[in-house]
Amino acid sequence: MDKTKLVELALEARHFSYCPYSGFAVGAALLCEDGTVYTGCNIENAAFTPTSCAERTAFFKAVSEGKRSFLAIAVVGGPSEREPEDFCAPCGVCRQVMMEFCDPKAFRVILGKKDLEYREYTLEEILPLGFAGEEVNRK
Ligand code: THU
Repeated sequence: MDKTKLVELALEARHFSYCPYSGFAVGAALLCEDGTVYTGCNIENAAFTPTSCAERTAFFKAVSEGKRSFLAIAVVGGPSEREPEDFCAPCGVCRQVMMEFCDPKAFRVILGKKDLEYREYTLEEILPLGFAGEEVNRK
C-alpha cells in the first residue's frame, strides 16, 4: 500500500479521537502483512491512566482479530481544532507495544501531517536497543 494512503487513513481515524482533557487528537493506521489496515484514535479518560494512544488502539484492534504480522504504521497528531501541522512521534509505551509484534529492522513508522508530507523511520531507529520477548524467555 502507498504510504500517502496510509497517512490519509490515519487522518480520517483522527476525527474519531476522544480527547476532552488534552485537546490533542491523534490518529493511526496500521498496515498488516496481508494488506489489511486497522485504524485507531486516542481515547482519553477522566482518570488519565486508562487513556489509550491511537497507535495502541490500532494494534490491539488488529491483534484481537488475529493479526500478528505488520509492515507499517502511520501516525498523525496535533491540537484537535485543526488538521496536524507538525509531525507527532509515538510515545515510549507505544514503541514498546510495536516492539512486541514487529521486527525492529523492518517495521516502518510513518509520521504524517495535513499536507500528506511524511517522514519514515524503522522501529529500530526510534527505539534503539529495544527490549524483546526473547530476552524474557532466555533460560
Ligand atoms: N497520544 C497518542 O495517541 N499517541 C502518541 O503517540 C502521543 C500521545 C495521545 C495520548 C493523549 O490522549 C494525548 O495524545 C496527549 O498526550
